[in-house]
Amino acid sequence: MSDPRLVSSRPIDDDLGFDQSLRPRRLDEYVGQPQVIANLRVAIEAARSRGEALDHVLLFGPPGVGKTSLAHVIAAELETPIKATAGPIIERAGDLAALLTALESREVLFIDEIHRLDAKVEEILYPALEDASLDLMIGTGPGARSMKIPLKPFTLVAATTRAGLLTAPLRGRFGIVHRLDFYSQADLEFIVTRSARILGVPLEGEGAREIASRSRGTPRIANRLLRRVRDFAQVRAAGVITVEVARNALALLEVDVHGFDEVDRKLLLTIIDKFGGGPVGVNAVAAAISEEPDALEDIYEPYLLQIGFIDRTPRGRVATPRAYEHFGRALPPGGIGQKKLF
Ligand SMILES: Nc1ncnc2c1ncn2[C@@H]1O[C@H](COP(=O)(O)OP(=O)(O)OP(=O)(O)O)[C@@H](O)[C@H]1O
Ligand SMILES: [Mg+2]
Repeated sequence: MSDPRLVSSRPIDDDLGFDQSLRPRRLDEYVGQPQVIANLRVAIEAARSRGEALDHVLLFGPPGVGKTSLAHVIAAELETPIKATAGPIIERAGDLAALLTALESREVLFIDEIHRLDAKVEEILYPALEDASLDLMIGTGPGARSMKIPLKPFTLVAATTRAGLLTAPLRGRFGIVHRLDFYSQADLEFIVTRSARILGVPLEGEGAREIASRSRGTPRIANRLLRRVRDFAQVRAAGVITVEVARNALALLEVDVHGFDEVDRKLLLTIIDKFGGGPVGVNAVAAAISEEPDALEDIYEPYLLQIGFIDRTPRGRVATPRAYEHFGRALPPGGIGQKKLF
């Protein structure tokens, strides 16, 4: 899916090279997520000292918060190779079986977007995760029998933006499950400052703060805004990213103080103006703003929920008083969610 939004948490084309160069390589470089990192440190250290494969790891959280980065960091800390693939790429059960049998002892297999794994393919994973073996069916009909093929001990690191879509048997087979959350302002400042150093961009502290505060809690967006602001600094200013330069650049890019862009504004104003603040179902909102319901839940909503601009209720989404205030709209008479529309 192409998603050209500047503040999209999904990767866009010009992120590719930079995502690589700005990616943290080791646990020490991995900013934020202190709880997750502390736990992983212990687990990795223990597995290493026993000379065993690390337990299987499931990482979930919104796009751009460092799941793929962390998968690579885990392999680096284990000092093992890593093979990376993704749910939609593995088409047949045999493809996964081939991947698994080719793994070295203690190697990391990274499966991104594991929620998009085909059901038949997923079944191969159960015995592989359970007792490091493959169950192969030999023959068909009444004479068919199953044969167990042992695999070398390995670690599956899986990532997903939609943990809710995983089947219970799959989810249950991960020994280590961590949720990666949106980053704090301080963490994002740190990340932007580190990235500026790597890119060789002069960035003042206040400038870093300004970029961080408009990055929707997402390192990928922070890095992207940094690059756009750097362009502006070079062309329109003396090359240094001061707070004024950052503000002017972000204003020109139409990224507001919350990191909202056109789509966020449209989404919120639709709930407020068209649906009386809600509650409104996700499909109705999606249709009204011509977006996919999936994209809405996956990309746009998580941050708006996080900062308290919308709420999820059993009857649908509602805009919060904060959202009304942000857009200078008066609260509906009788309160949000009371208005009869049809
Ligand atoms: N903890 C972190 N410290 C420093 N930089 C980070 C961190 N997490 C992410 N980044 C930066 O953000 C970019 C995107 O991270 P990454 O690709 O790992 O996210 P993701 O969660 O896998 O996203 P997606 O859900 O889209 O696959 C990285 O290339 C890196 O530059
Ligand atoms: Mg990823």
